[in-house]
Amino acid sequence: MLTENSSKTISAKTKTAKPLPKVSGGWFMKNSLDVKKDIIGFVEKNQKLHGDIFRTEVISHSLCFTTNPDYVKYILQENNRNYIKSFGYEVLKIFLGNGLLTSEGDFWRQQRRLAQPAFHREKLEALTKQMTASAEKLVQKWKNKYNYGGVITITDEMNEVTLDIVAEALFGVNVSGKLEEIRNAVSVSNHFAMDRIKRAVRIPLWFPTPANRQFNSESKKFDKMIYGIIDSRRNESDKHNDLLSMLMGAQDEETGERMSDLQLRDEIMTIFIAGHETTAIALSWLWFLLSQNPEAEEKLRNELKTVLNGKTPSFEDLPKLKYTKMVVEETLRLYPPAWIVGRRPLEDDVVGGYLLPKGINVLMVSYLIHRHPDYWENPNKFEPERFSPERAASIKKYSYFPFGGGPRLCIGNNFAMMEAQLVVATILQHFHFTMAQNSVPLLEPLITLRPQGGIKMNILKSNK
Ligand code: HEM
Repeated sequence: MLTENSSKTISAKTKTAKPLPKVSGGWFMKNSLDVKKDIIGFVEKNQKLHGDIFRTEVISHSLCFTTNPDYVKYILQENNRNYIKSFGYEVLKIFLGNGLLTSEGDFWRQQRRLAQPAFHREKLEALTKQMTASAEKLVQKWKNKYNYGGVITITDEMNEVTLDIVAEALFGVNVSGKLEEIRNAVSVSNHFAMDRIKRAVRIPLWFPTPANRQFNSESKKFDKMIYGIIDSRRNESDKHNDLLSMLMGAQDEETGERMSDLQLRDEIMTIFIAGHETTAIALSWLWFLLSQNPEAEEKLRNELKTVLNGKTPSFEDLPKLKYTKMVVEETLRLYPPAWIVGRRPLEDDVVGGYLLPKGINVLMVSYLIHRHPDYWENPNKFEPERFSPERAASIKKYSYFPFGGGPRLCIGNNFAMMEAQLVVATILQHFHFTMAQNSVPLLEPLITLRPQGGIKMNILKSNK
């Protein structure tokens, strides 16, 4: 909520504010088709014509796209209390429910407070062993299955390892028997949600269209799995110290009530999905980028040799794996898995002198801000050195925000960074990958920025 004073200042400003530059479309479909066909291309084209903020209409919504880091900072951080999440997150609720990513206000604040301790440094330190154990399990599987030769879909493999890590580390469960099922459910939901966001008319979920039926069937399976996790933990006598036990044991300070099964399901589902899909995508793009930049791969391998010399990386090694971290950071710049972050103002607001009318969906496109020529030299070039301590200090605030910002900053950002460093350091000591397809993977901007059709790679013995 805005305070009375800040509210007065904003309302005085709104009177003199300029209207947002507008991209007009057809009288009926407006810009729906262009946005649906190629949303990134649409923003890129209009950014050149109108600058770093403009509005457009699609049939069901008013959209405002921005590629200006100062505006992002204002919305996510400085005046965050005037914003709720954009329409797209309402669509996500159909499968994530009212968990940390989609809830708002005091309820969100209370849930965040409950979950936060599971991501504290000491907790993360204890989880590093699980992270490397999962990476080693994958290495072993590859050695047995491919014997250092063959073609893999790297996106599926990275999905397997990140899913294993989240399930084991945060919920103490092994999901290896359910990988295919989970992968299908997440992929169907990702396509279904993006399609629904872009649709002018949204058919109710109970109506048996083929897409609704497929989505409902996948989400039923997923629900069954999540409720199964809750039930088996209830029936266990062993004490655990993970996120699941924190969520299940948490009690409301005033009423002493515990979370309902439905709320538990929503929080678990959210962390399960937000916690593996994004990191899997980042790691997939990372292997692709290394395959295109052999000198960076060589540098990375040299660091692993110096720091680890064949041993499994540990928590203590992380600060020494500097270049590995830079490679992860640069991958998240070029391919931010959460490529768009959206908010809606609760009251009219002014940003950069422009009026943001109450309720408009403001979409902050990290994918384009991360490649914006005003803030990045050779923006499309893979150059991990940008994130060296000397150079990183001059990166403009919010010209890089792969994990969002302000109070709704990703709760798993440190978890993800550690996980990515450890998985890369473990795998690259055994294997390396070259492209097994001739074409560069196309972007598939769903809720997450997936490489279309996955990335096929040759799996080869690491040149140590
Ligand atoms: C490379 C990996 C990841 C990326 C790029 C990423 C990105 C993001 C972004 C951009 C947001 C903010 C969304 C917004 O403001 O609307 C977010 C929120 C969130 N992320 Fe992540 N994430 C990653 C990994 C993880 C992991 C590993 C977990 C959990 C284990 C996680 C759990 C969450 C949750 C629960 C939220 C909502 C937080 C809240 O609003 O309180 N994410 N993530």
